[in-house]
Amino acid sequence: MSFWDEKITIGNRSFGRFIGGPLDGITDSPFRQLVRDFSKDELLYTEMRHVRCVAHDKGAQKALRFEQFERPLNFQFAANAVEGVQEACERVLAAGVDAIDLNIGCPARNVIGSGSGSALMADLARLEGIVKAFRAAVPLPFTVKIRAGFKEKNAIEVARMLEDCGADAIAIHPRLQTQRFEGRPDYAYAAEVKRAVSIPVILSGGVVNFKTAQMVYEQTGADAFLIGRGIWGKPWKLQELQAHARGEQYIIDNEMVLRYALKHLDNLISYYGPHGVFIFRKHLPFYVRGHKEATSVRRQLLATSQVDEVKETLLTFFGV
Ligand SMILES: Cc1cc2nc3c(=O)[nH]c(=O)nc-3n(C[C@H](O)[C@H](O)[C@H](O)COP(=O)(O)O)c2cc1C
Repeated sequence: MSFWDEKITIGNRSFGRFIGGPLDGITDSPFRQLVRDFSKDELLYTEMRHVRCVAHDKGAQKALRFEQFERPLNFQFAANAVEGVQEACERVLAAGVDAIDLNIGCPARNVIGSGSGSALMADLARLEGIVKAFRAAVPLPFTVKIRAGFKEKNAIEVARMLEDCGADAIAIHPRLQTQRFEGRPDYAYAAEVKRAVSIPVILSGGVVNFKTAQMVYEQTGADAFLIGRGIWGKPWKLQELQAHARGEQYIIDNEMVLRYALKHLDNLISYYGPHGVFIFRKHLPFYVRGHKEATSVRRQLLATSQVDEVKETLLTFFGV
């Protein structure tokens, strides 16, 4: 069996090496439902939700509104205190998930401003308390998503601490908070983090096809790969990666792209209501990308909020 066919073990569960990563506002329930048409067993992260909101019911209903067939799901939290961790986890566990993740990699100003996200990587005493609170509250696999560091690299120290506190796996996006999502990920540093711990290390950053997955594996020795921007507008991406890992061809034709663009639009409307047509606007460029008339069709579709018109334009565009 090749490296790529083997599963990784996170706590008491096993998953494929390609994992659907969290993209706030993108990998929501309507999108994850599309992914499940192609990949039944791969782990998918939810978008990040703050412990405070889930524990106190502010937005909890929305965060917990997903379909059981979206599982296996790794529900991602942000936190800045131990208060509420137990209650928030209880709610999420009751909704039915397969793992819980703490995000200490988020660089967003509004998140780090409250001491959550990547700010926690520079506050180890507070981080340790929060991680222990999660570990005590989560009887399922518990993972933590980190960066290379906040303003300075300290992921090795953080990873060791997470392992000592009982985390079952670490996902590392090897950039500093200051780099946000730009610049080359520091794969050499991720390799040092991998060597420093014995729990699985999942690499996040720059894996968009099988060639990049192989390159990142060679440079980091990571156990699994979190696919972020590479899955946007390509709900078949995890299946495609697996096919290429087996040396098989994988072809997605225009008809399939059209079918999934339309299904995405329908899913957004049934989940968010009529507003779904506006949300579709940020996904549309990814479905038409690479086509000659992509710019003009995008412009045309941005000018309408009529669902039928959007569908008609897409049908004409793809010529199906
Ligand atoms: C629009 C956007 C939203 C994101 N939202 C989240 C999030 O909610 N939680 C998280 O841990 N990471 C989030 N990330 C980071 C990604 O999961 C990933 O770590 C990063 O984009 C690098 O991987 P990539 O090159 O595969 O995209 C987000 C990134 C982008 C671009």
